Amino acid sequence: MKSLQISSFEEYKDVYAYSVQNPEGFWGDVAEHFTWKKKWDQVLDWNFTEPQVAWFKGAQLNITENCLDRHLVDRGDDVAILWESNDPDEAFRKITYRELHREVCKFAHVLTQQGAKKGDRICLYMPMVPELTVAVLACARIGAIHSVVFGGFSAQSIADRIQDAACNLVVTADGTMRGNKEIFLKNIMDDALVHCPTVERVIVLERSNSPISMIKGRDVFYGEEMARMEGQGLTDFPAVAMEAEDPLFILYTSGSTGKPKGVVHTCAGYMVFAAYTFQNIFQYKRGQIYFCTADIGWITGHSYIVYGPLASGATNVMFEGIPTFPDAGRFWEIVDKFKVNILYTAPTAIRSLMAYGLDYVKNKDLSSLQVLGSVGEPINEEAWNWFNTHIGKGNCPIVDTWWQTETGGILISPLANITPTKPCFATLPLPGVQPMLVDEKGEEIVGNGVSGNLCIKFPWPGIIRTTYGDHERCRTTYFATYENLYFTSDGCLRDEDGYYRITGRVDDVMNISGHRIGTAEVENAINMHTGVIESAVVAFPHEIKGQGIYAYVILSDHSHQPDQIRKDISATVTRIIGAIARPDKIQFVTGLPKTRSGKIMRRILRKIAEGELSNLGDTSTLLDPNVVDQIKEERL
Ligand code: PRX
Repeated sequence: MKSLQISSFEEYKDVYAYSVQNPEGFWGDVAEHFTWKKKWDQVLDWNFTEPQVAWFKGAQLNITENCLDRHLVDRGDDVAILWESNDPDEAFRKITYRELHREVCKFAHVLTQQGAKKGDRICLYMPMVPELTVAVLACARIGAIHSVVFGGFSAQSIADRIQDAACNLVVTADGTMRGNKEIFLKNIMDDALVHCPTVERVIVLERSNSPISMIKGRDVFYGEEMARMEGQGLTDFPAVAMEAEDPLFILYTSGSTGKPKGVVHTCAGYMVFAAYTFQNIFQYKRGQIYFCTADIGWITGHSYIVYGPLASGATNVMFEGIPTFPDAGRFWEIVDKFKVNILYTAPTAIRSLMAYGLDYVKNKDLSSLQVLGSVGEPINEEAWNWFNTHIGKGNCPIVDTWWQTETGGILISPLANITPTKPCFATLPLPGVQPMLVDEKGEEIVGNGVSGNLCIKFPWPGIIRTTYGDHERCRTTYFATYENLYFTSDGCLRDEDGYYRITGRVDDVMNISGHRIGTAEVENAINMHTGVIESAVVAFPHEIKGQGIYAYVILSDHSHQPDQIRKDISATVTRIIGAIARPDKIQFVTGLPKTRSGKIMRRILRKIAEGELSNLGDTSTLLDPNVVDQIKEERL
């Protein structure tokens, strides 16, 4: 069979043209590279009106057979995971595909014995340890739907997510160290579970050995259960046959309104797309060491730590800690230690490490690096150049990969060493991906040297299928703005060479250190504070985080100490959402710029937060134009 990997720019152009002319033929050929329990009857059935998208209809599979079993034949002893602890003195772990298979099977038995079955929703709230990968894959093995919640979210956020999906089982850990700070995962989970009557069982991984309360009849230890399976010889577990369009996972992400929504991805299309994009973008070759610095709690971790690399038989470095602990050389230390060949990270991490200076890079051997990747937000030219010069030493292509939780995998990116790159450009679409720029009215903007709103006009296998429990929300958010198009909510320009550059969100979603947070979500959290009457939140440019959070707050009582109340508001946001959503700046105001119909003019607030005070545009439609002057004067 022809290789899945494209090997030249000429070939890319041919493959791309074919993928547009015959998408079904193209993806059908790609899918032949996977293990199926039953092949499909139809490659694609779709409409963007409902929307309804089905890839590989009629096929049956289990994604874990593709990530594990099929490798046992000829690469069972290849390393699947090289794990590095947060603590630099703790020994690293090396897990082969054969070992991972065994662990996943055992944990599939544990889940089953705890009552989990196909279709159940299981919440995973865990540190970055191999047991998280095991838990993810074990869910997939038994056909349960995993909902991984990032370890930085608060009890309230976890409870919202568990309730929305009516999870009946949770896997968590006692705690984890992030840098020198302990995160008490089990305690946070216990607080969440007070509000989650659907959860019947909690499996607790022993990681930090900090004191926790284990509730009789509900909580069991991961280690004890796994040892019991081992003792009973339950080390194999037949993978459950899944329909191509059975849900694989739910991952919650923020939008411009309301609570985060559960993005649903399904088994077959997601798998094919994650693996195809992984192999082509990074040009992964067997034996190479690949290191993605994301957390499995985000889509990048799902697609490019777990499913894409493992379905490709890759060797993955998994890191529990943070880039600045014990010092700002930690990433480079890991690259040196494991001789990493491919490093996939985020602009915010690059900028933060850049700020520490070159001392941390100087004495590390980075000569193993061959490919660098960036994801999560637009990468600014300075960070791109620093990454290229000081980390890649001018020898490594940078793949600037653009995509979203909803797209399941990367849609626009260079293919390493194949697509000529340009700083800050995600460059060209992957085969099978058909981008289109539209104006406000939805008219296509043709030609090059243009910019507009980025839409995709044809389904790719990794596209979002629904938002859990609320299909209408999926339709209105992504498929109703422009008829027959998937709307990304990103602004984009296409330059003279037809290269795409993503300019950022055009909705009220902020991108804080590569994390997506809705302004409305933060406002709701701030408004929970007793002293707050109303608030408005916007993003402003932040040197390290890309964007920071600027909150304008109206207080009910001005007699409090401003610093104290700022702290209280921050604590409230941390409690309701998590520390990632804490405002960087809180300005107290007596009024907000509103139109006569009561709508807050965020455009004005954004400009003030950005420091653009002279050109605020038309303020004549405001109910009270005077508030703007006051806000300007007292700007932080
Ligand atoms: O605005 C785009 C930005 O991140 C958003 C998606 O966020 P999320 O679903 O959390 O997924 C992040 C990881 C895929 C997009 O709408 N974004 C992501 N990658 C890039 C980017 N912006 C510019 N360049 C990128 N490479």
